[in-house]
Amino acid sequence: MRAFLQRFLFIGALVVPMELAAQAIPIGDAVAGAEVYRRECASCHQIGEDAQHRIGPHLNRIFDRGAGSHDDFRYSEALLRQGRDGLRWDLRRLDAYIENPRALVSGTRMSYRGLSDPARRADLIAYMRAYSDQPQNIPEAAPTARGREVNLSAEILAIEGDIEYGEYLSSECTTCHQRSGDHAGIPGIVGWPEEDFVVAMHAYKQKLRPHEVMQSVAQRLDDEEIAALAAYFLALGRE
Ligand code: HEC
Ligand code: HEC
Repeated sequence: MRAFLQRFLFIGALVVPMELAAQAIPIGDAVAGAEVYRRECASCHQIGEDAQHRIGPHLNRIFDRGAGSHDDFRYSEALLRQGRDGLRWDLRRLDAYIENPRALVSGTRMSYRGLSDPARRADLIAYMRAYSDQPQNIPEAAPTARGREVNLSAEILAIEGDIEYGEYLSSECTTCHQRSGDHAGIPGIVGWPEEDFVVAMHAYKQKLRPHEVMQSVAQRLDDEEIAALAAYFLALGRE
């Protein structure tokens, strides 16, 4: 019983599993975030009074907005697709996109390498939150907003995929995705860098990406199987 209880943290009447409690850092320092914004984002995005679209869309009132929802900005087809699937910029998704844009939107036009330091992301988001409609309604510390978003340890990324096993598993996938790699309404998945493929599958598995069919496909796969599929579809692209 004792060992069991040690896995939980008691805050008043709230019982929070340790893993979550450990991640529930307050959102961050908006003043420090202004500097992060200036260095990382301002070359492409404006924010604040009279902000206009530039290389990227302006980022006023981004919280809870649907992805790709400014009619007067030309987004990538990939971002528009996520928007149609229901992707909204809540804290968790915003954090994931800033950490690694391609994890959330594979074909995004935002050519930004990502910001890996969770504390700097938290500061940045605290700053951006000041330009939302109702900053007071955006949680200071949604537990899920913290930590590495698409939770992939180095071990998961290091798994060598078994190509033959991947081929065996792929028959389910190719009922929808074309083996030729063609994009026919459903995106092509042949010839991708393995890491992008693995990260995308985990983004569905963790429900960061909204598409429900792919969420349930990914949920049935374990880490080895995802690695095997990544290796197979990459090899298929080389044939
Ligand atoms: C090199 C230019 C560039 C940089 C740097 C950049 N972005 Fe972007 N950003 C873009 C482009 C272009 C898009 C549109 C992406 C698309 O259509 O796929 C975009 C899209 C976005 C979106 C989605 C907006 C919407 O309306 O759905 C968010 C949020 C965002 N960027 C935040 C950031 C933040 C925060 C930073 C800094 C950490 C940043 N970006 C850095 C170019 C950039
Ligand atoms: C019932 C049809 C269906 C099946 C089966 C299916 N997919 Fe998908 N897949 C889709 C659709 C539709 C999308 C686009 C989803 C979206 O908008 O995020 C997609 C997206 C993806 C993406 C991201 C593509 C991108 O450009 O972002 C990957 C990777 C992927 N699927 C891999 C797989 C793998 C691996 C399997 C087999 C284990 C599989 N899919 C099975 C329909 C399917």
